[in-house]
Amino acid sequence: MGLHPYADRYAVHPTLPGTGVPRDQILREIEEMSAAEDAVAHEGKISGSIYSGDEDHYAFLNEVFGHFSHANVLQRDVYPSATRFEGEIIAMTADLLHAPEPVGVLTSGGTESLMNPLLVYREWGRESGITRPNVVMPETAHPALHKGAHYFDIEVRLADVTDQFVADMASVRSLVDADTVALVGSAGTYPHGLIDPIGELSDLAVERGINLHVDGCLGGFVLCWAEDLGVPAPVFDFRHPGVTSMSADTHKYGFGLKGSSVLLYRSPELRRLQYFVMPDWSGGHYASPGMSGSRSGGIIASAWAAMVSLGREGYLAIAADIFATARRIREIVGEHPELRVLGDPLFNVAFAASTGEQSGVDPIDIFHVNDALAAKRWRLNGLQHPPAVHFCVTRPNTLPGVMDRFAEDLHEAVAYAREHRGEQPRSGATYGAGGLSVPRDRVAAGMAGWLDATQALPSG
Ligand SMILES: Cc1ncc(COP(=O)(O)O)c(C=O)c1O
Repeated sequence: MGLHPYADRYAVHPTLPGTGVPRDQILREIEEMSAAEDAVAHEGKISGSIYSGDEDHYAFLNEVFGHFSHANVLQRDVYPSATRFEGEIIAMTADLLHAPEPVGVLTSGGTESLMNPLLVYREWGRESGITRPNVVMPETAHPALHKGAHYFDIEVRLADVTDQFVADMASVRSLVDADTVALVGSAGTYPHGLIDPIGELSDLAVERGINLHVDGCLGGFVLCWAEDLGVPAPVFDFRHPGVTSMSADTHKYGFGLKGSSVLLYRSPELRRLQYFVMPDWSGGHYASPGMSGSRSGGIIASAWAAMVSLGREGYLAIAADIFATARRIREIVGEHPELRVLGDPLFNVAFAASTGEQSGVDPIDIFHVNDALAAKRWRLNGLQHPPAVHFCVTRPNTLPGVMDRFAEDLHEAVAYAREHRGEQPRSGATYGAGGLSVPRDRVAAGMAGWLDATQALPSG
């Protein structure tokens, strides 16, 4: 992908066009771009990212969105419907994740749902005189937590993971001190889709009288169905008394449109610490529950519509297919001694190259496997420490025939990796500028180029 996609096909607008572009032309361009870009998603070859992929579902949500897209829910009195939607989304999610009370906020996505609790726990620490707060989390915790800690000047202490790639409790325990305001665990982790030992993290949080955030941004809305489906998964939610907050993204396995996530707190007292209120501003008394000011009612309405239209039965059916497909991926990967699955995943399967000792065969480079899969339009996600890829299963991956194609293509990809031992692979471990074809040693430079591209549009 170049830094200026479509410059060869459509007019570039580095400045506002003098005369408005006709709507039909704009719609034509939009339809062409979206059809081309969604084509791979429809083949079911993308890991994560496209969670529902059901065009009927999207059309319905877009219709709902249209009714409130212009509504600013900061003005509660004008749009009371948003209060209904938001309250019910929070209550339904609290019920699914066994929160004692429906206390939460709707945010713009996983990142905001991880940053807010960090702010809350910093403020919580301040109330008891902690001026240099730290949070302890396993190294697999999502970068948004580092971003939040960076913004709010909180020290991050990274705990090791075990050989099963979940938080190593001895390491977590060794990092906690009197300035620790919170622990973090994930259900499941982005890299390997695994559930940290939330029960043990909860025990430690209770013992130390500190907070515990469970990052269920990715897994919350799919793992919550495991128990009903008889899929063995440990308890990872508010049923553990030490869990004080939890995030789950409606825009991932909640199957809403992009731009929404739920953040739950154990108590209203904790939630209050994230409110921002300015009573004496010349513009009037200002109050907002989170980081955003104005927010679109359309996103909230469509997240609500996704939840109530699917209902328990809808979610259960999709989750059953996702768990079954993840099991199938594990079997397919297991057919190759050159590959090994990391940990014991249920919905997001990470696999790496086996070492010679593990497999008894000559080791291959996992990124050669990824190169060959990418050539067949599969889009898995590259990981590091150790080098690996993951296949985060979403609904499009569960459709008939997709796994048969994956089995064939993985077989060929392993053969390709065997043939290209010792050569430099094209792919590597990149997340955030995913899709940029940047050699492994130049990821940072590639990323900077991608970010700069917004300011460097070609003229003409
Ligand atoms: C475990 C986990 N937490 C947080 C996030 C951040 O979510 P978002 O990209 O919606 O900000 C992700 C994204 O994939 C995730 O996998």
